[in-house]
Amino acid sequence: MRPIPLILTVAALALPIVADEAGPLLFKNVCAQCHGEKGEGKLEVKSPSIANEPVWYVTTQLSNFHDGKRGSDTAVDPQGAMMAAIAKSLKPEQIKAVAQYVESLPLVPPKEREIAGADVQRGQELFYERCMECHRYNASGEMAFGSPPLVGRQGWYLLDQLTKFKKLHRGAAKGDEKGAKMVQMATLFIEDEQAMKNVVGYILTLNPAPVQAGDDLFGAPAPAAGK
Ligand code: HEC
Ligand code: HEC
Repeated sequence: MRPIPLILTVAALALPIVADEAGPLLFKNVCAQCHGEKGEGKLEVKSPSIANEPVWYVTTQLSNFHDGKRGSDTAVDPQGAMMAAIAKSLKPEQIKAVAQYVESLPLVPPKEREIAGADVQRGQELFYERCMECHRYNASGEMAFGSPPLVGRQGWYLLDQLTKFKKLHRGAAKGDEKGAKMVQMATLFIEDEQAMKNVVGYILTLNPAPVQAGDDLFGAPAPAAGK
């Protein structure tokens, strides 16, 4: 009986160290090739910015990809299928560790700030009426509803996802209740491509200004409005 407590002690000591190192290392070795070193995303492979996505959302999505609830059909969702192949190689503890690291990365606002042909005013109206109750007024997301922040993501990515929801290429798998909510929203309230452009055009305006090369990152913060 004597060796058992010893083994338990060693395991308890080793675990936190593994968790701390596993996230950053995994990100650097596996995720960065597609999502970039800062998690900023790459248009060439249609991988979105994921930097600063909350741990609960990253965990859910990686599990969805892993379990075949997202990206299970290469023919209709090649990007999701690519991501699913990666997620299937991850163990639950690796998902947890890398999700924590993704959340710790500072938000990278998208460089493109506009969608060609979008009516931002109408997009705002649609957002206020139909999207805000779950995604919140500044599109910062709400864990209680499982609705992620939409700020930080690129316009082309948001358009792609709304299209996938509308065509039942995301959110239609058995057991994906959160995705099913979004399928319903996209189907009922985003009537056509113009409406989709409008609302995404509006969401992009909610992003903080992108950091320019040469900006003084450590300078005094701008005074808050009204002060
Ligand atoms: C081979 C390229 C590739 C690699 C490697 C990769 N991804 Fe992805 N990832 C993608 C693509 C493409 C998408 C977009 C899928 C879609 O359009 O639905 C994506 C989507 C995601 C999403 C969903 C984002 C959202 O807002 O719903 C998360 C989270 C994510 N990746 C995390 C990771 C993590 C963490 C790793 C490393 C363990 C990783 N990815 C490695 C290509 C990749
Ligand atoms: C009833 C709550 C609810 C409403 C209302 C809602 N959403 Fe969502 N939305 C969600 C949930 C939950 C998810 C996450 C789905 C998942 O887990 O795959 C989501 C995901 C998304 C995504 C994918 C983000 C990503 O990173 O991949 C986009 C884009 C989006 N919503 C846009 C909208 C827009 C635009 C509207 C208004 C027309 C809207 N949503 C209304 C709950 C909602």
